[in-house]
Amino acid sequence: MSEATLTVSPRFVTGSLDRRLFGGFLEQGGRAIYSGVYEPGHQHADASGFRQDVLDLVRELGVTTIRYPGGNFVSGYRWEDGTGPQALRPTRPELAWHSTEPNTFGLDEFARWVPLTGAEPMLAVNLGTRGIEAAIDLLEYCNMPGGTAQADRRRQNGLLEPIGVKMWCLGNEMDGPWQIGYTDATSYGRLANQAGRAMKALDPSIQLTLCGSSTSDMATFGHWERAALEESYDTVDFISAHQYYCERDGDLQSYLNASTHFERYLDDVIATIDHVKAARKSTKTVDLSVDEWGIWYTDDHLQDVAPDEWPTGARILEDLYNYADAVVLGSMIISLLKRADRVRAASLAQIINVIAPIMTEPGGTAWAQTTFVPFSQAARGAGDVVLTTIVDAPRVDSERFEQASTIDAASTFDDTRGVLRIFAVNRHSSESTKVTIDLPGWDAVASAHVELLHSPDPRARATASERPRPTRHQVPLDEGVHFALPPVSWAVFTIQLTGTSSSP
Ligand code: AHR
Repeated sequence: MSEATLTVSPRFVTGSLDRRLFGGFLEQGGRAIYSGVYEPGHQHADASGFRQDVLDLVRELGVTTIRYPGGNFVSGYRWEDGTGPQALRPTRPELAWHSTEPNTFGLDEFARWVPLTGAEPMLAVNLGTRGIEAAIDLLEYCNMPGGTAQADRRRQNGLLEPIGVKMWCLGNEMDGPWQIGYTDATSYGRLANQAGRAMKALDPSIQLTLCGSSTSDMATFGHWERAALEESYDTVDFISAHQYYCERDGDLQSYLNASTHFERYLDDVIATIDHVKAARKSTKTVDLSVDEWGIWYTDDHLQDVAPDEWPTGARILEDLYNYADAVVLGSMIISLLKRADRVRAASLAQIINVIAPIMTEPGGTAWAQTTFVPFSQAARGAGDVVLTTIVDAPRVDSERFEQASTIDAASTFDDTRGVLRIFAVNRHSSESTKVTIDLPGWDAVASAHVELLHSPDPRARATASERPRPTRHQVPLDEGVHFALPPVSWAVFTIQLTGTSSSP
């Protein structure tokens, strides 16, 4: 068995954890909303039609923000359609996902639903078919107390208090030819800057995210970020990055190495931000919001909906995930934590039914996929200080991506409870590795245990009746902290330091 050492010192501080790193993305498409969040008449639905079984899972997932309503959906959306009495709302053709949008769930419902999840709302404005006026009307509706037209409309619609949305996305993937209203970087940057300036004039407390590239594979990647930032640097707080992976052609090892590619992408965006900062001689730092990331296999949205069909709540992008998918998702979480000094927000894409860890059946159950496990463990278990983790491990080659260290890891510390958590993956497709944890500079270890997610068959999937659960292993401390990670595994080490009374 090969061996690896993880070294974590209290002096190796990456930064404080912005808990918005564990956000989620909920798009008004497929069955995310209709028969996901919202299903009037379902046995677990409340009087508003919100499924309580789904709400329970969203809370357990631990998402800290929820980005809504898109995604591609937002670029053709009239936000007013989702406000006011439901009986008066228009039904419209929806172009991004080729559906019929009944608007029985919209902004008003989202504003009532999201506090029930414990997460903070994050909204996107439509810079595809609309622009500055609709953006500031929407912001006024959400954030102004009353006494002005849109804020009073909200109050008349029963939302007496401001919704209080602090984080706003200036459009979505405006570089992508599939996006309604896509454009070039300079035109988009100017529009985003103007919309953003008007929005901040109305509410200076908000934070704005400029659209970066749709993926690192876009031909314009890098140039897009630079040109859009040059138009808007002083106005925006974040630039977005979007990235999805999946296993291709049965090449499991390449897939397991994917987070090397993800990290290079994050580094390239950070470098581009800092280039614009330097060229402008600015003292302001724009950070990264990875507001779509995850695992995505299907392209059935292109195939399953016939041109003359405009369904509501169609089964699109309903990927079923296996244990390898959970490990890759876990490795992406590690990448985000490793760059937590500059990646200050992120949104798992998506959270319900559409490329999501939470699945539902109409009239039936809600259940958790394998990918639910690493996300919920990290979102709920990470401490507030991110520590740089030095990994010394053998490396493994792959065809599609760079060579990777077999073991990768990131650590956080909860100062009040004296708990160190190390999130780790074994990315080797077939070999176990014995991991030793070296803890220079800490108090003595009082106890340590590991929660391990692993299946002998990495392509096995969880089902509605078989929930994936990590197994718990106590670590004997007589000879230091050691644990063997099987191939294709995700592990969370919880280490209780002495000198604190609470247990992890
Ligand atoms: O998450 C699914 C889609 O992926 C989003 O609508 C879009 O922004 C991205 O291309």
